[in-house]
Parts: sequence; C-alpha cells; structure tokens
Amino acid sequence: MEWMKQAAISAQKSDAVFFYVFGLSVAFLLFITALMIYFVIRYDKKRHPVASQIEGHVGLEIVWTVIPLILFLSIFYYGWTNYEYMSQAPRESMVVKVMARQWSWSFEYPNGKQSKVLFAPLEKPMKLEVRSADMVHGFYVPSFRLKIDAVPARANTTWFQATRLGAYDIECTVICGVDHSLMLSKVVVVPEDEFKAWYFGGENAPEPGKSLTAAGTPAAPPDEPKGLALLKANGCLECHSVDGKPMVGPTFKGLFGKSEQIKVAGVDQTVTVDEAYLRRAILNPESQVVRGYPADTMPAAELKPDELSQVVTYLKTLK
Ligand code: HEC
Repeated sequence: MEWMKQAAISAQKSDAVFFYVFGLSVAFLLFITALMIYFVIRYDKKRHPVASQIEGHVGLEIVWTVIPLILFLSIFYYGWTNYEYMSQAPRESMVVKVMARQWSWSFEYPNGKQSKVLFAPLEKPMKLEVRSADMVHGFYVPSFRLKIDAVPARANTTWFQATRLGAYDIECTVICGVDHSLMLSKVVVVPEDEFKAWYFGGENAPEPGKSLTAAGTPAAPPDEPKGLALLKANGCLECHSVDGKPMVGPTFKGLFGKSEQIKVAGVDQTVTVDEAYLRRAILNPESQVVRGYPADTMPAAELKPDELSQVVTYLKTLK
C-alpha cells in the first residue's frame, strides 16, 4: 500500500515512535495475559480452598511504580524529541506556500512559480507555510506521516525531507464540503537536477517527474492529443470522463453538437452545444448550469487562450 511507504525522514521518525509504543503494548499484553492464566491455575479453588490475606510488600510496590515510570518517561522523551524535530525546519529549507481552498491545493515557490502538485527535490528540506483561502482544511501526506491544519488568516508551518523518488498522495483530512473527497493532489519527489531545471527554467520548462504526476498512470504516450493532456493537467478529469461515464460533472463524450438542457440564471433552456457554449462552460461555469448537476461545483478554468482552443478542439473529437 502506498501510504505505508516511508518516503521522508518524518515518516521514519514517526514510525519509530509508533512501533516503540506498539511493541511495549504487545509485551505488556502478553505479560499480563500470561500472569492472569498462571493465577487462575495457581489459585484455583481446589488448590487454594481458603482465601488468605496478603499484606503489603514494599519492594514489589517500588518495582511496579519505578518500571512503568521509566517506560512512560521514555515514551514522552522519544515523542517529544521527534515532535521537536518535526516542528523546526532547517535554515536552508526552501519555503513553499501551500494554499488550500474548496476543493484544491496550490503551491507557490520563492521565485513565484506556481503549481497544482507539490514538486520536491530528493533529500532536500522543504518548509511548508500552510494557509487556507476559505475554511479549515487539513494538509496530509500519509507516506510522509506529515499532517497540519490549514486555517484561514494564519500560516501553520511544517517541513519534510523526502527520501524516496515517487509521487505521494496529498489528502484533506477535514470534511470541508461536498467535494472534500476530491481534494487531492500529489507530492512529486524528483532528483535535484530535474527539480532545478524546472524551478530555474522559464515558463515553458518541462514539468519534473512527468511520468509520476498522475501517479500510477504511465507517462502520456507521445501521440496523446494536446487537449487531453491539458484536461489531465488541469484536473478536469477528476470530475469529467471522456468515455461516457457520469462523474461529478457530465461526461465529455458526445457533448459537442448535443442538445443540452441548462439553467441560465435559474431559467430552463435547451441549447445546442457549440464552440461558444463550450468556452462559456469552461471559463464561466456559473453562467450556465447543466440540469441535474450541482451549481457552484465546477471551478472556472484558468487556461490561456491557446490552451482553451486546444481543449475545445479536443472535446469536439469525442464523438
Ligand atoms: C470539481 C469538479 C469539476 C472540475 C474540476 C471541472 N468541472 Fe466541468 N463541470 C462540473 C460540473 C458539476 C458541471 C455541471 C454543472 C455546470 O454546468 O456548472 C460541469 C460542466 C462542464 C461543462 C459543460 C458540460 C455540459 O454537459 O454541458 C464543460 C464543457 C466543462 N465542465 C469543462 C471542464 C473543463 C475543461 C475543466 C478543467 C479545466 C472542468 N470542467 C473541471 C464539475 C467540474
């Protein structure tokens, strides 16, 4: 299972504390169960018909006070030092601003670069300043054992240093509305030179870890239409299918040329889907809502004019 991987130092530390406490618990469970079985046999009514009064035993009292005390203090110490480690980012960390909103994550780097997935160089510390644009969300990377609240009007900070290449899930841990379960992204851990090429490259620098961005799904075949790649990159396919399957939003299959029932400012209308309709639907989803689907759900797309044309061209091919 992906989340079980230890993909950052924080995961190793957190698991070490967990297994320490877990190991102690198992040892005590076995010890107490064995003792209980022994007593049941030893003080059975046949062997021990008359109950006897046992007076105090100072040595025993000291032993069972001091040993648990030491164990509890060791748990506290271990937990505390790891907590301290996880709350203090090294000075040389790169600081990334994380913004949570209903229902997506976005990341901004010190040089102003922005992305929808969190690119991170291998074995380099990254400090995260986590904020929210609307309400309380929870930033969680299971494979890093990294979790922190995203709260409006303040920045919560945490950090990580990835130890494995790969793409790891980012989830929201706070129920934040209808599409909470779709509020997903990825941390994409790439070799440092690949990260630098993207970070210092201009607008058109290739995205690092292309083959990992959609985690699990293989790299896009070279003949993939531009429009489809854009739909993937902009998260459209989280809510729309291209094969006829209804998802959160209507499928794109057979959309072009179809007569669509929509609501415009609350009034029912039937329109034929043409290019102009598609452009409006993508840039200004609130202006025309497809009947039977929720309004306020589709985020207005942030596409450049030529990207929008490529998307529309691609949608027209989905017969
Ligand atoms: C969070 C889910 C979500 C995402 C992400 C999303 N959409 Fe939508 N989309 C919807 C829903 C729900 C509707 C139907 C309600 C409406 O029309 O606003 C819709 C409607 C549409 C329609 C009109 C469909 C029809 O049957 O008339 C188009 C076109 C469309 N979306 C394109 C896109 C594109 C392109 C993207 C990516 C840039 C995108 N959507 C991202 C949820 C989403």
